[in-house]
Amino acid sequence: MYRTHTCGQLRIENAGETVTLAGWVQKCRKLGGMTFIDLRDRYGITQLVVNASEGELMQTAASLGREFVIQATGKVIERSSKNPKMPTGDIEIEVTALKVLNKAQTPPFTIEDVSDGGEELRAKYRYLDLRRNPLRKALELRHKIAHEIRNYLDAKSFLEIETPYLIKSTPEGARDFVVPSRMNPGQFYALPQSPQTFKQLLMVAGYDRYFQIVRCFRDEDLRADRQPEFTQIDCEMSFVEQEDVLNTFEGMMRTLFKNVLDVTIPNPIPRMSWYDAMDFYGSDKPDIRFDMKLHEITSLVQGHGFSVFDSVEYVGAIAVKGAAEYTRKQLDELTEWVKRPQVGAKGLVYIKLNADGSIKSSVDKFYTPEQLAKVAETAGAEKGDLVLVLCGPKRKTQTMLGVLRIEMGNRLGLRDPLNFAPLWVVDFPLLEWDDETNRFYAMHHPFTAPKPEHLDLFYSNRKEDLEKVCANAYDFVLNGTELGGGSIRIHEADVQERMFEVLGISKEDADYKFGFIINAFKFGAPPHGGLAFGFDRVCALFGGQETIRDYIAFPKNNQGRDVMIDSPSYIDQEQMDELCLNSTAPKQE
Ligand code: AMO
Repeated sequence: MYRTHTCGQLRIENAGETVTLAGWVQKCRKLGGMTFIDLRDRYGITQLVVNASEGELMQTAASLGREFVIQATGKVIERSSKNPKMPTGDIEIEVTALKVLNKAQTPPFTIEDVSDGGEELRAKYRYLDLRRNPLRKALELRHKIAHEIRNYLDAKSFLEIETPYLIKSTPEGARDFVVPSRMNPGQFYALPQSPQTFKQLLMVAGYDRYFQIVRCFRDEDLRADRQPEFTQIDCEMSFVEQEDVLNTFEGMMRTLFKNVLDVTIPNPIPRMSWYDAMDFYGSDKPDIRFDMKLHEITSLVQGHGFSVFDSVEYVGAIAVKGAAEYTRKQLDELTEWVKRPQVGAKGLVYIKLNADGSIKSSVDKFYTPEQLAKVAETAGAEKGDLVLVLCGPKRKTQTMLGVLRIEMGNRLGLRDPLNFAPLWVVDFPLLEWDDETNRFYAMHHPFTAPKPEHLDLFYSNRKEDLEKVCANAYDFVLNGTELGGGSIRIHEADVQERMFEVLGISKEDADYKFGFIINAFKFGAPPHGGLAFGFDRVCALFGGQETIRDYIAFPKNNQGRDVMIDSPSYIDQEQMDELCLNSTAPKQE
């Protein structure tokens, strides 16, 4: 037996027992004739004492280095100087036998809660980074959440069913990762962007409550909350309306918050229409932990000779509490900030409502103090506040104001990660027009059903009508992050065919790509709907972080690379030939 206890287990009650522990050397200190060793495993740290100034035991103790794997046997004794910060801090082990199970090279960075290693280095030695407490805790949290999800859904009669990874393209809006088929030369599988079509086929098959904690693959630009392979809590239900789906998963989130974090979230979770989210927060994933809403001021500011405002569709403002003290320099910096390509504004107008009641604005020339005061009041500003104004096309400007709102929320410290404000965003438009390609795209995906009361509009050929069609589609938003999304689906073949038509997908193309699902709908498809949560995002937000990478054991970096295994990488010409592949890309060393 390698060990009788773990390194996190022993307490003062165990004093007098003879135990054997195994683990990694965290630290070794020599103090006179004694050697103190901090022995670490997943469960904690226990102090070992080697009280010998000569002999084999002393020699072994002296040979130890950081991260050596050792086994120690000895008696549990009460410590003379206790460490109240450690659960095992009341005791130590008086070692009588010590064995090196494996030596270790000096690790390239310190394995401490705060490491001295840079991100790239830690990624290369991910297995060492994973020994650190913050990452261990992240993976433990992930396990706990998965466990709670399975319990909850199992109790509600959901079946966990696996679906294939080697499939045909699914239209979730990103690029596919593809896999060449050796047995079918020149043909490719696509890795699923989500199991969307399969879960719908399971509904047709009669498995009326499905879920899967499943890997999804999307070739898209990466961000803190995006990985090329990520995990969804994917769910689908039959014979349901939107209300049934929302209630079921509101219950799941409430249970997760309670059982994992002991946090009680609002009951019911507030709901907001997509239109309100855009108009008041400039985002389809509003962070409702703080107010600072957007206010339209177009009619107040137009017609006063300021051509920048006069020539636009929309002028909007936010009031930043207590920020009237912003200096000229800070305002210049903020103006540069909104002009960055990530925000994309052309400029920023401000109105300062000074604490003494005076008003100062970058557009003083065009407006009287009374007019500016009216604008500030409309924006919800009070004395001491700063009003920030952007203008341009409506939705684009609202989005920019939304980004500015989040930035000001960060600067004012209004976004405490341990304050949880969940929200359902509902009533999404079904379609989104794209000027560049001159066609509609599905706002969620092409399997989302139009609201029944909008079916007439859906069959109209006028762009204005189609733009008005709403869907029973919903997103679960937490603290400004989209945690999940779903919809009530189309379950009739003719409606699905009409959807492809509206999206400009020819009948032949639709048949080639999605014939299997249109066909399935002809064999008795039940009404159904569902949703998927981003599991990595749930874990990160529960852990108080926005970056999902630490909640994934082996993630990719921002270039989509796994620097530990050095992937992606070139393959042999032989393998290329076998797959009938021909690369024109120059090889990079
Ligand atoms: P959607 O595309 O909205 O819906 O994805 C669901 C949730 O998955 C998470 N997510 C991601 N997480 C990490 N990295 C990524 N690259 C990434 N992309 C998405 C988000 C998102 O809310 N089939 C539909 C669901 C449905 O309609 O039932 C779907 O995949 O948290």
